[in-house]
Amino acid sequence: MNVDADRRSPPCVLVIFGASGDLTARKLLPALERLAGYGALPPEVALVGVARTPMTDAEFGNLCRRSVTSDDNHRWEEFAAAARYVAGDYDDPATYQRLADVLAECDHRHGTAGNRVHYFATPPRLFGPIAMSLGKAGLSAPVGGGFVRAVVEKPFGWDEISARELYADLSSAFVEEQIFRIDHYLAKETVQNLLALRFANSVFEPIWNRTWVDNVQITVAETLGVGERGGFYESTGAMRDIVQNHVLQVLSLFLMEPPTSFHAEAIRDEKVKLLRAIQPLDAEAEIAANAVRGQYTRGGTREDLMPGYRDEPGVDPLSATETFVAMKLEVQNWRWTGVPIYVRTGKRLPARLTEVAMEFRRPPQLPLFPGTAEGLDPDALVVRVQPDEGLSLRFGAKVPGHAFRVQKASMDFSYESFDEQSPDAYERVILDALIGDPTLFIRADEVARSWRIVDPVMRFWAGDERPIPLYQAASWGPSEAGALIARDGRTWRHSSRR
Ligand code: BG6
Repeated sequence: MNVDADRRSPPCVLVIFGASGDLTARKLLPALERLAGYGALPPEVALVGVARTPMTDAEFGNLCRRSVTSDDNHRWEEFAAAARYVAGDYDDPATYQRLADVLAECDHRHGTAGNRVHYFATPPRLFGPIAMSLGKAGLSAPVGGGFVRAVVEKPFGWDEISARELYADLSSAFVEEQIFRIDHYLAKETVQNLLALRFANSVFEPIWNRTWVDNVQITVAETLGVGERGGFYESTGAMRDIVQNHVLQVLSLFLMEPPTSFHAEAIRDEKVKLLRAIQPLDAEAEIAANAVRGQYTRGGTREDLMPGYRDEPGVDPLSATETFVAMKLEVQNWRWTGVPIYVRTGKRLPARLTEVAMEFRRPPQLPLFPGTAEGLDPDALVVRVQPDEGLSLRFGAKVPGHAFRVQKASMDFSYESFDEQSPDAYERVILDALIGDPTLFIRADEVARSWRIVDPVMRFWAGDERPIPLYQAASWGPSEAGALIARDGRTWRHSSRR
């Protein structure tokens, strides 16, 4: 992959906090290696790792090499060999003093001109303390005409109140324009393609509204269970892990009004307007009717038997944490009022698929095709975010033969038809943060608004004494989820291929 000149990092030091951790080794270093491989990291970009684990510069360089598979990336070799490492506690001022010295040396050696991107790859409880320490050490304010940014990854708080507290901590050192909040779903090629689909074509816009659309379904389904992350997941659950961020981000891009430009703020303004148009479920009866949670139990086949959530390591054997959520939302604005938006996510479902589907209203004269068309699924436009990235339009077509029979057919577009490869989501977000393009990052007001949508449901579930509905691993969730949509005379789409 070649990069355009404007998709190349400017001179700067990338500082990774949590440099000895899992996220760094699994995601950040491999993404940096690929960026180095196609020339996006010129020699004026340097890496500094910070973590508690004692390590020398050379050992950190080795960690950089060990975390990637390629062994013929010359620039990566150079990058890893020049990497620096600062060991110390995140709340110890001496750590930041040593960091300041190393940064000054980098400026001198690499010409990084005081530009820094601080990447917080630590557990979230450390975001606030690190930001405040950077502020106190004078490492958060840009010098001269340069830039200093902070990159943080979800969870952005645990509810609206804690999100505001985190915001206050970050804001003690950084202004909003310096803060880049990652949602890796926004960096997925197909999610970005939503913008091209909607605004680079004139054919879709006229039907993108309540006149033509019957309902929208967003599915984020995973086949995996919580695996080794039980401890983390126990205090998180599917609502906080997926709905508050990934689902609501995809939903807002799919349904927002056209922005006045592709400028980051114009897009983010429209996204937050859309989130504000979602009336949070409020009364208990309304929540009970429109939000369903579930938890997986043992399931699968004899050959592939999967443990139940409560049997996973680190999980309370009586846990009521949800691993599945289904909700019916409504966007109350000119375009969407009256169109139900069904969202669904879960672990240990039968397929790994993320898709956004728009089902269209049925034609008014179905009796024209007696005995055939009534039973057909509605026409639909399906954006497959993953896997098998692409788009399909489902419609009815006559089956060849003497009889007049209608069957569903589809027009398909697959990303495989491009020669170019999609960059990995982390490659995309790291490079955007280095370049300073905030389009794919979440603004503080979006975070707060998303919490306002999910908080009442979480509060209701916390006080709900009925047992959490269960579903067998490798099934599509509890029967309550089916009932939620069946009540409206509709069904969930069960596979991206429908
Ligand atoms: C993460 C969640 O944000 O997204 C995980 O914390 C989840 O629980 C993951 O598995 C899914 O991401 P992807 O890119 O594999 O769909």
